[in-house]
Amino acid sequence: MFRQLDTPSSEITIFWEDRPLSAYQGELVAAVLLRHGIHSTHHGQSTGSRGPYCMMGVCFDCLVDVDNQKAIQACQIIANDGMRLNRHMNMAGTGHTHDA
Ligand code: FES
Repeated sequence: MFRQLDTPSSEITIFWEDRPLSAYQGELVAAVLLRHGIHSTHHGQSTGSRGPYCMMGVCFDCLVDVDNQKAIQACQIIANDGMRLNRHMNMAGTGHTHDA
């Protein structure tokens, strides 16, 4: 469903829950995840599974944990080689907190 439109730049590797994913320098993390079929990026006690939706920093549905930083918007960060991503688990029950 999702595909790269531009001529790709140099290829890099990022990791989603220890799974290597190919990405391109300058690509948004959320775009990489969607292109690889990863639609659920965080889970909240009251919201259930959520994933990238607006792609412009409004919905906060794309939260991920990045290199030990919690609750980062995947649609607002650029993929870097070796970046390690994990599903954000928000068990506070409010869905859009940064308290994990
Ligand atoms: S996809 Fe909506 S804030 Fe990232």
